[in-house]
Amino acid sequence: MSLTGKHILLGVSGGIAAYKTAFLVRDFVKAGAEVQVVMTDAATHFVTPLTLGTLSRREVITDMFPRGAAEATTHWTAHIDLALWADIMLVAPATANTLAKIAYGFADNFLATLVLALRCPLAVAPSMDVDMYRNAATQHNLTLLRERGVHVLEPESGELASGLVGPGRLPEPETILHWVEGLMVETRTDLLGKKVLVTAGPTHEPIDPVRYVGNRSSGKMGFALAAAATRRGAEVTLISGPVHLPTPPGVRRRDVATAREMAGAVDEEFPSTDVLIMTAAVADFSPVHPAGDKIKRDAVVGDRMTLEMEKNPDILRSAGERKARQVLVGFALETSNGLHHARQKLAAKHLDAVVLNDPTEDGAGFGTETNVVTILMADGRIDRLPQMSKLAVAEEILNRVAPLLR
Ligand code: CTP
Repeated sequence: MSLTGKHILLGVSGGIAAYKTAFLVRDFVKAGAEVQVVMTDAATHFVTPLTLGTLSRREVITDMFPRGAAEATTHWTAHIDLALWADIMLVAPATANTLAKIAYGFADNFLATLVLALRCPLAVAPSMDVDMYRNAATQHNLTLLRERGVHVLEPESGELASGLVGPGRLPEPETILHWVEGLMVETRTDLLGKKVLVTAGPTHEPIDPVRYVGNRSSGKMGFALAAAATRRGAEVTLISGPVHLPTPPGVRRRDVATAREMAGAVDEEFPSTDVLIMTAAVADFSPVHPAGDKIKRDAVVGDRMTLEMEKNPDILRSAGERKARQVLVGFALETSNGLHHARQKLAAKHLDAVVLNDPTEDGAGFGTETNVVTILMADGRIDRLPQMSKLAVAEEILNRVAPLLR
């Protein structure tokens, strides 16, 4: 069980998604954790303390000052005891109000007071209506929390309880569980002193100075891997195609645009690296003669134009041919016959592992926060993992890479 013996504080604030915490508590307990639930007054309107107390097998705390003098004297310092007891605190759902209280250090209810006293990592899963989520005040508060090292689980997009559509939905309990599992292994140092090279994002192959051939890769999987490897002690270089993502703390980043530029950067870094993980969606072809000036509509005779393309270098394949001690991990994006193609790639490119995903599956593919992958190892092991956050997938990949380095 992934969370055996872990002490989790679950802070529930008052949003409609609070009903999902019943399943979340059950999942945490099944994974072996001890869970202490703390609720704001508003949360008790959406799910009862009796429900969460029964599932967690611990009395839920809602009040700072429980009624009855005797109880009050023993209870009022509970926030200090619990803060010391916890391995992690998760606030889910975290409403705009509770996020604001945490960002500004308020202590006007038990949940907020407990957060102030914590010595363990804090994680929050915001959930609210789309306009409240997008509001500048909420976004500013989330930025403040991130800067302080609070882990923030992005809400999912979709239809909200109000009927509006957009980001604000609390991810499913299973996704939250895997995210928390990923956070709990952060303290590992099994990559200490190792050099890890990660590629991420798409490549853009110019047609003319303003147009390119590209793909929908967001870079999230590669950035998650770079962040996870850094936390596990590795010295990480991230070679990124054009993406809109902040560089994870501690990561050395090199930006490239085309497949050829990426190949050049990998060639330079490869000899001194211990691990190469190619998550980049490298374009297989690029226009042979990119135009020096913007192609004019009228310059094309007739209704059709032909773009001549040539094959780009296969970066991973040439790394496989050159590899000495390096551990090589590739990604395979397949929509049919996935295992067969992934096995072929593993052998043909001399890989140690290949991560197979099918972008047509729910919760997988480009731009999503989660992924559904199967990891195939050179020794024949095959693990199909459930849907989990890209950060949790990154941890799973590194769990398999680290032992190969010893
Ligand atoms: N890759 C690479 N250089 C390329 C193309 C892909 O290094 N020019 C890497 C990718 O980063 C990925 C793996 O190779 O790790 C994907 O293998 P590839 O054979 O390109 O498979 P797909 O593009 O997924 O599929 P297909 O076989 O259909 O081309």
